[in-house]
Amino acid sequence: MQTIAQAQATIQDDFATEVLNGLSRRPRSIPCRFLYDARGSELFEQITGLEEYYPTRTEIGLLERHADDIAEMAGEDVAIVEFGSGSSRKTEILIAALPELDAYVAIDISAAALSEAAIRLRERFPGLEVITVTGDFNDAIDLPDKLIRTRKLGFFPGSTIGNLGKNEAIGFLKTARELLGADGALLIGVDLKKDESILVPAYDDSEGVTAAFNLNLLTRINRELGGTFDLAKFAHEAIYNAEAGRMEIYITSREDQEVTVLGQPFSFARGERIHTENSHKYALADIAAMAEAAGWTHARAWVDDNNLFSVNMLTQAG
Ligand code: TRP
Repeated sequence: MQTIAQAQATIQDDFATEVLNGLSRRPRSIPCRFLYDARGSELFEQITGLEEYYPTRTEIGLLERHADDIAEMAGEDVAIVEFGSGSSRKTEILIAALPELDAYVAIDISAAALSEAAIRLRERFPGLEVITVTGDFNDAIDLPDKLIRTRKLGFFPGSTIGNLGKNEAIGFLKTARELLGADGALLIGVDLKKDESILVPAYDDSEGVTAAFNLNLLTRINRELGGTFDLAKFAHEAIYNAEAGRMEIYITSREDQEVTVLGQPFSFARGERIHTENSHKYALADIAAMAEAAGWTHARAWVDDNNLFSVNMLTQAG
């Protein structure tokens, strides 16, 4: 096992490499996991409370409304393993509905978000064992040995699966299936296809919180990699790509300019973009097909009355 300091150092090297590579290739892109430093995680929490950002409240509504069904499918004496736990607010609903819960394993890229959530959960659920793992949920994860025999319910809310490409998403579902074991299940929140008039404001809100979240990546590069980005000279852009069925998020240069990162110069033409995120939107049939391609059974889906969002229970065949 790595220490938290080692994990943070690995993340740091990774950041330098990914940013330099990402700014050197065309089209430019930087992996979305770097949006979530302490400030980014805070801004993301603000996004989840915005009027225009329907996914969080809709998913929370579904979890609350169907908590008993979910608990019944999950069974007793399980451990929850959450991929990208953030504030763990949604997990709290599950934990409250699962009285026989053995342990909660929270995996997140932000050490700050993890420790804050762990403190809150240990206080609210004194009998619950809370285990935190700092890192990318896409990497190989070692679960504590004592959980080997415990049945595991994976939890992957927030439509984070939509932030992966389609093949990556199937790859993630396969890895999760192996980690969760032959008697494991996976509860996964997936945003549904819908009109652009709802989607675009969800990723470009009127208060500019999403813009601040996206542009915070430049602040992070300035601070951690000696970057010289002037935030006033870049804009947040959110575009719906209908053909690919996804929202695409960019940081766009407002003028011709040169920026340095770790001493390396990068020139931007006006309108040139850095791609920072995709958020794929799926139909229930797509979700079932991806689950099955990864060896899961799409056992059940819960959808809100407005058909905005889905919570899906994947189980193992047999
Ligand atoms: N999983 C979230 C989503 O796809 C992440 C997200 C919300 C996001 N708003 C964003 C990522 C803005 C980048 C920029 O909805």
